[in-house]
Amino acid sequence: MESQQEFTSMPRIGDKAPEFKAVTTQGDINFPADYKGDWVILFSHPADFTPVCTSEFMTFATMEDKFANANCKLVGLSIDGLYSHIAWLRSIKEKIEYKGMKDVEVKFPLIEDITMEVANKYGMVQPNEDTTKAVRAVFFIDPEGIIRAIIYYPLSLGRNFDELYRVVVALQAADEFGVATPADWYPGDDVIIGPAGSCGTAEDRMTGKEDMDCKDWYFCTKKISKEEVLSKVLKK
Ligand code: BEZ
Repeated sequence: MESQQEFTSMPRIGDKAPEFKAVTTQGDINFPADYKGDWVILFSHPADFTPVCTSEFMTFATMEDKFANANCKLVGLSIDGLYSHIAWLRSIKEKIEYKGMKDVEVKFPLIEDITMEVANKYGMVQPNEDTTKAVRAVFFIDPEGIIRAIIYYPLSLGRNFDELYRVVVALQAADEFGVATPADWYPGDDVIIGPAGSCGTAEDRMTGKEDMDCKDWYFCTKKISKEEVLSKVLKK
C-alpha cells in the first residue's frame, strides 16, 4: 500500500502573520506587533554553519540598508539555538570572504527556534525535504501584519536577493498606484491596469477614453516613470 503523505497547514497569502514571541540575536521580539508600520521579510534557513546559508546571510546583510530604504526590515530564523547563531555570525564576520564581501556583520535579528515552534507555525519545516531543518521560506508581511507574498526554496538552492528586493518594491508600487506589475517588472516599466469590470469600461478602454494603452479590453498598460515609483516607495 502507498504511504499516506502528510499535509500540514501553513499560512497563506492574505492571512494575518501568525503571532509569536521569540529570543533573537538582537534581543526578544514580539512578532508581528514590533514591526507594525513597516514591511518585514521573515525568512528561514536550514542551519547555522552551512555554506549556502552563509552566502545568503552575507548577501542579505550587505543589502540590509537597501531594504531599510524600501521600508523593509529583515528577520531570520533557523532551528538552532542562540549560542550557535552568535558563534556562526561571529565566524562569518571574522573569517568568511565571498564575492568581494568580507567583514560582514549581520545586524538584523536571527530567531532561535530550537523547539520548532515558529518554524511549524509558518510551515517552514517540510518533512519530505527534511524533518529537522527549515526550508528556505520567505514571507513578505505588510505594515498591517498581513502576508502578501510567500516564496519557498529547497535546501540546496540559494535565494536570489535581487528578486526579493524586486518583490518588496513591486508590492508597494501596486498598493501606491492601484495597479498590478507584469512579468519581470522593474520600476519604470509599464504597469497593468486591472481588467474592465463592466461593458461600459471595456468600451471606454477600446475607444481610448482612458489614460492607458489597451491592446484588447482586458490587456491595458500605463506608464509610471521610475522616478514616480521610487519617490513613493523609497525613503531617499
Ligand atoms: C547550506 O546552507 O549549505 C545547506 C544547508 C542544508 C542542506 C544543504 C545545504
